[in-house]
Amino acid sequence: MLEDKRLLLIIGGGIAAYKSLDLIRRLKERGASVRVVMTSAAQHFITPLAAGALSHDRVFTELFDREAEQDIGHIRLSREADLLIVAPATADLMAKMAHGLADDLASAVLLANTRPVLLAPAMNPAMWANVATRRNAAQLAADGVRFVGPNAGAMAERGEDGAGRMAEPLEIVATVEAMLAAGGPLSGRHVLVTSGPTHEPIDPVRYIANRSSGKQGHAIAAAAARAGARVTLVSGPVNLPAPPGVTLRPVESARDMLAAVETALPADVAIFAAAVADWRAASEAPEKMKKDGGALPPLALTENPDILATIAHRTSGRPRLVIGFAAETQNVVAYAQAKRARKGCDWIVANDVSAHSGIPGGVMGGDTNEVHLITAEGSEAWPRASKAEVAARLIARIAAALGERESES
Ligand SMILES: Cc1cc2nc3c(=O)[nH]c(=O)nc-3n(C[C@H](O)[C@H](O)[C@H](O)COP(=O)(O)O)c2cc1C
Repeated sequence: MLEDKRLLLIIGGGIAAYKSLDLIRRLKERGASVRVVMTSAAQHFITPLAAGALSHDRVFTELFDREAEQDIGHIRLSREADLLIVAPATADLMAKMAHGLADDLASAVLLANTRPVLLAPAMNPAMWANVATRRNAAQLAADGVRFVGPNAGAMAERGEDGAGRMAEPLEIVATVEAMLAAGGPLSGRHVLVTSGPTHEPIDPVRYIANRSSGKQGHAIAAAAARAGARVTLVSGPVNLPAPPGVTLRPVESARDMLAAVETALPADVAIFAAAVADWRAASEAPEKMKKDGGALPPLALTENPDILATIAHRTSGRPRLVIGFAAETQNVVAYAQAKRARKGCDWIVANDVSAHSGIPGGVMGGDTNEVHLITAEGSEAWPRASKAEVAARLIARIAAALGERESES
């Protein structure tokens, strides 16, 4: 997959630097050439000798390197790469990147860079959660930098747990492969996907939700990334990892989801696969509601914003293709056709989520799906298939439709 690809790996000063040695090996196994830059902090954790032995190349460590700088080495290092990987990306390197600092070789290379950049952050959960790091990560994502991880789990520090572990080398490799899927049918496009349920709070411990697992939405995001698109995945709470190569924006409620979608625009295509709660509690109790043995507490509901209709009816900045999902338990095609007209979207992917759908495990939570694609031209029944196959077919249709629209205009 990475034959003839030129990668520049920048290793920052964190415990996870040892995993970057394995990353070099995995990238080389796949045919990539790997050049390594190490920060001076990184050299406290692993040696340039080890990185060089695995990359079969000289390792770069100094900005003021007389030999390398004869031909402006720090500029050339990034120009000669197809992609830059920063692993581990320390809190410090992220802060430097977000602010445009360039006081060592790694940060100067990153500032002079014009190539795509993938960050694999690794740090203590408190560092990752710190508002300064959150601000820097948000800025870098807005600047077009991609992230893989960090994952949750046990940390090197004894007894510490939480989000901050560097993504595993194979996860980073898969993300690199997705990012370099250049020439894919959606390369150069931005695809926005929503996935999963939303949680609508009733009080600090209770919420309204639905059975959506996010499997179909996540499969669509993964297929779009494999087709070369830049993908933003806005997902409600699910038990699924972000697919390789996508930028994940986790949200809780329908209102959070709409805000994240609006922030992620502009996009060429928006696919609204999330099962957004139609209603939320009219007011969220500030304290846990108590069972006092008397009357049941009143639960007044109010309508949530309609994310699909809001985006489909935008007069400016509307994605060229807006696709909604319809989960119905009866009259699937008729209801979905009416929904397409009402919401103002281009296509609807409709599925039967009733218990009698015959889908093993049900559509919500199961691994298979049987959908109807509703377009302006009519409706098509697609055969039952895995959610990954449905996703791949949908992405292929989207690529074809964008191509047709372009050739018409
Ligand atoms: C034992 C040890 C482990 C560290 N692990 C991390 C880490 O995992 N992530 C991180 O962001 N910083 C970590 N640091 C702090 C960085 O090494 C420090 O901020 C350094 O200045 C980063 O330099 P660099 O960004 O140029 O590599 C660690 C420091 C020590 C002493």
